[in-house]
Amino acid sequence: MEEAKDELRVEVLGAQHERSGFESGVETLDRYFRTQAGQDARKKMAAPFNLVLQDGSIAGFYTLSSTAIKLPELPETVVRKLPRYPLIPATLLGRLAVDRRYQGKGYGRFLLADALYRAVHSEIASFAVIVDAKDESAKRFYERESFLPFPDQPLKLFRPMSDIEALFK
Ligand SMILES: CC(C)(COP(=O)(O)OP(=O)(O)OC[C@H]1O[C@@H](n2cnc3c(N)ncnc32)[C@H](O)[C@@H]1OP(=O)(O)O)[C@@H](O)C(=O)NCCC(=O)NCCS
Repeated sequence: MEEAKDELRVEVLGAQHERSGFESGVETLDRYFRTQAGQDARKKMAAPFNLVLQDGSIAGFYTLSSTAIKLPELPETVVRKLPRYPLIPATLLGRLAVDRRYQGKGYGRFLLADALYRAVHSEIASFAVIVDAKDESAKRFYERESFLPFPDQPLKLFRPMSDIEALFK
């Protein structure tokens, strides 16, 4: 990472954040961040967080919200250890993107670690963090970070909170 970690700030999205020029290369993510993220935050649909560099530029963002997993969606080996509740509480990392100008510098991994840190420190119980990878390449990014695919939904991945807890111990 080029900038030292103490020069990076992750901030809750606010009106002061200029994001009209944000471009990750994935149009749906860019449009979401530029036009929808603020509304989602106000309506409590998702909590967007920005990575702000020392010069004030926004290098990336992610969103977190609550979700639920249907028990049979999980691998059998995981299901065996869980109570038979129809829905399992989880945290959704709905979107994650780094601006093209800053990709490949470790910011994606830094943002993901920040999201996992927030998720694990919530007082609301959550069994896992879930992500929907947009394609195989995004899937590989998450697999490198120890996410596991759902058996019948190969682009949907999860990382158990117990595993995330161990990461920050
Ligand atoms: C995917 C994305 C968030 C990664 O951010 P980044 O800042 O470029 O990634 P980092 O520099 O932190 O890289 C972290 C690791 O992931 C790897 N990686 C990065 N992008 C990857 C990709 N698309 N596929 C597979 N691996 C990837 C890097 O090689 C690095 O691993 P290494 O340290 O072992 O070399 C970013 O490229 C992006 O915003 N892409 C467009 C949007 C997108 O695909 N979002 C994913 C959610 S659907």
